[in-house]
This record gives sequence, C-alpha cells and structure tokens, in this order.
Amino acid sequence: MSSSTPTFPPDFTWGVATSSYQIEGAVHEDGRGPSIWDTFCATPGKIANGDTGDVACDHYHRWEQDLDLMQELRVGAYRFSVAWPRVFPEGTGRLEERGLDFYERLVDGLLARGIEPHVTLYHWDLPQALQDAGGWPERRIVDAFVAYADAVTRRLGDRVVSYATLNEPWCSAFLGYGQGEHAPGLSDHAAGLQAAHHLLVAHGAALDVMRANAPGSRHGIVLNLNPAYPASDSDEDALAARRFDGFFNRWYLDPIFLGAYPSDMWDAFGANVPSVAEGDMAVVSKPIDFLGVNYYVRTVVAHDPDAPGLALRTVAADAERTGMGWGVYPRGLTDLLVRIDRDYTLPPVYVTENGAAYPDKVVDGAVRDADRVHYFARHIEAVQAAMQQGVDVRGYFAWSLLDNFEWAHGYDQRFGLVHVDFETQERFPKQSARWYADLIARQGRAAAGAAT
Ligand code: FCB
Repeated sequence: MSSSTPTFPPDFTWGVATSSYQIEGAVHEDGRGPSIWDTFCATPGKIANGDTGDVACDHYHRWEQDLDLMQELRVGAYRFSVAWPRVFPEGTGRLEERGLDFYERLVDGLLARGIEPHVTLYHWDLPQALQDAGGWPERRIVDAFVAYADAVTRRLGDRVVSYATLNEPWCSAFLGYGQGEHAPGLSDHAAGLQAAHHLLVAHGAALDVMRANAPGSRHGIVLNLNPAYPASDSDEDALAARRFDGFFNRWYLDPIFLGAYPSDMWDAFGANVPSVAEGDMAVVSKPIDFLGVNYYVRTVVAHDPDAPGLALRTVAADAERTGMGWGVYPRGLTDLLVRIDRDYTLPPVYVTENGAAYPDKVVDGAVRDADRVHYFARHIEAVQAAMQQGVDVRGYFAWSLLDNFEWAHGYDQRFGLVHVDFETQERFPKQSARWYADLIARQGRAAAGAAT
C-alpha cells in the first residue's frame, strides 16, 4: 500500500479464510460421512488431474501448526467452515460428537492464540445422504439444515465471533445444480433456482436457533457478488448487464434485504422460477447482523439475442488476469460495495474473501509472489475507498491461508498466503504472507498511535 493510504479503524478485523473440504483431508476419520464433493471427485472427468480432497492440506491433523502459523502472521481473525458430514454423517439423525470435538478444539485453540473464530456452517460439503434424498432442490433439506445449525451453535456457542449460515449460495445452486461444474453436478436450470430458494429459506430458518444458542455472536450470510458493467453505452447492453446483475447478485440480495425476488428476473426466468411457500420470504428476509461479501471479479456484459436464456454474453475486458484466467479489476470492489450500500439497508459488511491464484514458483525455498501482493494491496485500497464513501466495512479476510483444493481445478490453482507442498505437507509463508503480516502490524501500530 502506498504510504499515503490512510489507516483503517483500530477495530477493523484483519483475517484469513479457508473452508473444510478444501483443507481438512481425513475424509474417513472420526466417523465423518461422505459428502457430495467426495462423490464428485470420484467421478471421472470432474476434477483437474483427478484430484480429490482426501488428504488436501491434512489440516485435520495439522491444525495446531496451522493456528501457530496464523499467530505468527499476526492475523486477528480466522474464517473457516464446519463440515456438515463430520457432525451428521448421514445428514440428519445421528450426531457424531467427535466431529464437533474437532471444531471445539479449533475454536479454543484460536481463542488461546488471540485469534477470533468466524464460522461458516455451509461451504458446499453437503452430506451425500442428503443429496441422495434430493439435495437442495428438495424442501425437506431446510429442516436438516436447521438441526445442523442448532447442533453446531449449541456446542460452540458464543465463543465464535460470527456465524455465517451459507457461503456463496449462487455457487451451490447454479454451479452445483444449474450448470454442473460443481458437486453434485446437475445441469438443470429449474433445479438450480429451486436449490437457491431452499438455500435462502434454510438460511433464514436457522437464524432463530442460532441466536438462541449463541446470543453473543453475530449471525449473517456470505454472498459472492459480481458487479456487472455494460460492454458499451447502448441501452441494450445496459439492460443485459442489469439481467446479469439480477441473475448473479439481486436474486440473493433482494430476498434477503427486500423480502422479494426481483420481478424483472422472475419474468425472465419464466417457467424455471422456484415454487415459494407462503411465508417463505419473511423467513428469508429476517434481519442479519452482518453481510459477508466475497469479491474476485467483475463481469462486462453485452446483449446477445442469440444466446440462450438471458440473451447476453460476457466480454473479456480486463487485460490483467490471474492464474484462474479471472480479470483483475480492484475498482469493481469499491463500486460493488458503494452500490449495495445505496440500494439496500445493509448491516455491517465484511469482505469475507478476496484473493488470487498465480502460478507460484518456489525458488531457493521461497515464493516471491509480487503479483499476489499487488493484487491484495489494490483490493484493500478499494475497500478503503468504499469506506471513505460511507460504506460500513468492518473487516477483510484474505483468501486463503493455505494453498488448497480449488474445487474443479484441483490443486493446480494456488490461492494461499502460505505455500503448501502437497507431497510433504510442508508449509512456508510466501512473500505475500509476510507483506500481509506487516500490513496488519502497521495498522495495529497506527491504531495504537492514534489512541495515544
Ligand atoms: C470462492 C469460494 C472459495 C474459493 C474461492 C477461490 O468462490 O468460496 O472456496 O474456492 O472462490
């Protein structure tokens, strides 16, 4: 960051994020049941190189070392997810205490190191048994999720600073059921929209029991939001960008904050719209204490009358790209935060994920990932720009602590601040980790200075 960058508020949260299936491994241990990602990984052709999460970062066994690493990097907060199939191996019914024991040790280990625990209940690893019963498109999953949220929050209580019900329901619904790139791999647009609806209902339905079990914690949801820009100044492209925004962002934001699906998209989805039971929208729109925003990319959109569905196509506009091929556009994060703050009455916002994969090279036992440093620096400045425009952002979590299992991309795409050698499980901080640790320390010092 440039030296002219003003400092963040002293109580701003600086964290790192991971998720259970991407790092834990130990898929058969302590009674864990199979998840849809185990099944998907075992399906030929779904994951790059046939990779699986069977071992991943072996975090289930190395968690203490990983917590020490976080302490060394001075991170103030750790966002991780609980694996539902460790807690209810069959999705419902029999509770596996050993699964909860693991997360309890993790939470206590974080607190002992002065690191805030931030828990996500569902980061995509649905118990396979629930998928066998129909998965998210089936209404009965709502009760199963509430029982799961109850069990986790009852055990961990308000030792956890924040609980997010879901991570990125757009991905669970659309990539998982609508388009098939993620587990369980269905390609059925109507099923995707029904899954999205049940995800949202499950989120709202779980909030009461979560609050009762953990009254001192904050309760909210994490959305991946993707600001859409028209490819030209034509009205047609502007409308196409609006449709993309509706499909990706408003389909989740409007129900949560306005209690209704956006009517333009309801019309555009035609026969594929979900069935909505009476009272659902009041459940979905229950107040939350925070909104988590995951930001990676923006999308530039053109009208395309020949394109099926929403009659649009995306245009590659950003010359600078990460290893994922994702365009780099930090300004999009400012625009996004300012825009959602304008359009909705938001609770405090946390940037719960932001980061980049690059083809890191280990040279003399070090990774000099200047590109990742540059990525983080510009996006953190973008957060600050939004705050200067009045958006109440309370924290930033870098994705990710460790190189890990990047879903359909397997281990090819490295997002970590910390390099992981997947042969030896050796970890060492990259240059970006040192940079992030320095940034956090500088912010802390500046805050201490401001207080005196
Ligand atoms: C997000 C996911 C996270 C990770 C990053 C790169 O969509 O929440 O698990 O895969 O992308």
